[in-house]
Amino acid sequence: MLDKINNLLSQISSCSIKGHEDLEAFRLKFLSKKGLIPDLFDDFRNVPAAEKKDIGQKLNLLKQKALEKYNALKTELHSAQDTLHINDLTRPAYPWFLGSRHPISIIRNEIIGIFERIGFTISEGPEIEDDDHVFTNLNFAPEHPARDMQDTFYISRISAEDSSPEDILLRTQTSSVQVRVMEHQKPPIRTISPGRVFRNEAISARAHCIFHQVEGLYIDENVSFADLKQTLLFFAREMYGKKTEIRLRPSYFPFTEPSGEMDVSCTICSGKGCNVCKYTGWLEVLGCGMVHPAVLEACNIDSRKYTGFAFGMGIERPAMLKYQVNDLRLYFENDIRFLEQFKTAF
Ligand code: DAH
Repeated sequence: MLDKINNLLSQISSCSIKGHEDLEAFRLKFLSKKGLIPDLFDDFRNVPAAEKKDIGQKLNLLKQKALEKYNALKTELHSAQDTLHINDLTRPAYPWFLGSRHPISIIRNEIIGIFERIGFTISEGPEIEDDDHVFTNLNFAPEHPARDMQDTFYISRISAEDSSPEDILLRTQTSSVQVRVMEHQKPPIRTISPGRVFRNEAISARAHCIFHQVEGLYIDENVSFADLKQTLLFFAREMYGKKTEIRLRPSYFPFTEPSGEMDVSCTICSGKGCNVCKYTGWLEVLGCGMVHPAVLEACNIDSRKYTGFAFGMGIERPAMLKYQVNDLRLYFENDIRFLEQFKTAF
């Protein structure tokens, strides 16, 4: 028995193979149910009791060596094949998987594309801003509730009691980019500013502390409310379909006067009434108005010579409508199973 074991051990250690057939032959010869090693285990029954311990150990060692050799040969074979593949220039290329864009980026690009076609440029500003650009220069009174800690994430505050133009914060609206553009550029100005904004809100299916907006600004001589309306109508029809109707409702923003909010006829029921538009037939999509003279003056633009309009809209809501996503949080979790579903050409 010992001779047989030693013989097999040396056979196994000197074994080499050329391909899959040899590997399988090795398995069949030594390890399979009817192979040499299980045979020896069968014979083990007849070994005298005194030798059982010694021979049993050797047998186990033999089995272990055979398994190790089998695995080593298998690995060797695979790596040899990998090398072969790499050197084979006729081998078909590996498939090239294209990623997909985030749904928020798709809608943002769509909005940008529409305004670019009518001559708007794109401008961006910092997400970490000062109070001056987010509030003061946009005509927010010092005690305006939007500056409150409950809405705004402050990074540093000059005083715990009062807000100051030097306070550093995460911007709550992309309207701050208006101020930056007007500070550095003279009219005519026609620009849109997409970006991320932050508000201290509890996270739920319908609200998040991070979201996205696109801001629009048009400043020139003789810009009127009619220009604003026409621009927004053009946008609404490009974005939501040729048959889309708009309506403007009076509203209030500190940086525009007069201010309005624009609704579009419901994209789901075309204005007939459904649960998405809460049976009103209308969906609220943006805020807008004529730029307040105080804002122009704060940015050193002569408000007697120039007028302009501004508008701002969220990106998440149209994205939710378009893709029928009913939980905002999905946009921020980066779950690949969600993101993979959005395919686009741009
Ligand atoms: N900044 C406003 C908001 O976050 C949206 C807005 C309303 C922007 C009116 C504008 C505007 O430019 O004219 O709610």
